[in-house]
Amino acid sequence: MLQPVGAQGYPLVNRDAAIRSLDSQLAQAVWPQLVELDRTCYKELGIGYSHVMWGREEFLRDFPGKWHLSCIAFDNGGEVTGFWIASQRDNSVVHTHRFAVSAQSRRQGVGLQMFWYAEAASAACGAILMTLTVQAANEVAVRFYGGLGFLAPTPAECLAFAEDHQKRCRPQEGIIVEPGELEYRLFVRHLEGTKSSHRG
Ligand SMILES: CC(C)(COP(=O)(O)OP(=O)(O)OC[C@H]1O[C@@H](n2cnc3c(N)ncnc32)[C@H](O)[C@@H]1OP(=O)(O)O)[C@@H](O)C(=O)NCCC(=O)NCCS
Repeated sequence: MLQPVGAQGYPLVNRDAAIRSLDSQLAQAVWPQLVELDRTCYKELGIGYSHVMWGREEFLRDFPGKWHLSCIAFDNGGEVTGFWIASQRDNSVVHTHRFAVSAQSRRQGVGLQMFWYAEAASAACGAILMTLTVQAANEVAVRFYGGLGFLAPTPAECLAFAEDHQKRCRPQEGIIVEPGELEYRLFVRHLEGTKSSHRG
């Protein structure tokens, strides 16, 4: 059983949980738990969570910077209680692909702790912008991101994101259009010149 350890420089979430950097070796060990949590969130929220479930292939896929920018949360039994999966699009932009906390571990700061990890890791990589997309119907996630300083993009930022990810968009509204006409709100968070929001 994997033992939870606090990531360097990051305090334990609480007595019962820890955040750990997700490297490729750890991903090989825990991918079934990541897939299970992803599936549970998909069943819970449907397309409010995502338009597609992730399997082993997606969690193990090697994106640029992924193994420095992603993290997972453990409980004291070594079970995965959350993940934040991100990668670097170019030198300046980090995109969050996937983010979830298990239902029984929510509202305990686990999501915040993973965000702080990702934010610090993004800044350490020289990124100046964090991006992510979320369905407006996912009010909890929208509130979570809004509380952390994620903002609607400018039209230029929306267009740049859509071009980079080869998606369609409505730049004035900050909307990214996925296949099947599913609409996601793009959120951006500027890192340049900002101090970490780490309150721990
Ligand atoms: C979104 C999610 C990851 C948040 O994780 P979490 O560990 O519960 O979040 P935290 O405990 O760190 O909450 C941080 C803040 O976010 C806001 N927040 C989180 N959950 C909330 C809720 N249910 N209602 C209102 N605000 C909420 C609060 O401001 C909270 O601070 P507070 O507890 O001091 O009030 C979690 O709800 C989740 O996994 N949801 C399903 C998957 C999902 O939607 N992922 C995002 C897809 S884009």
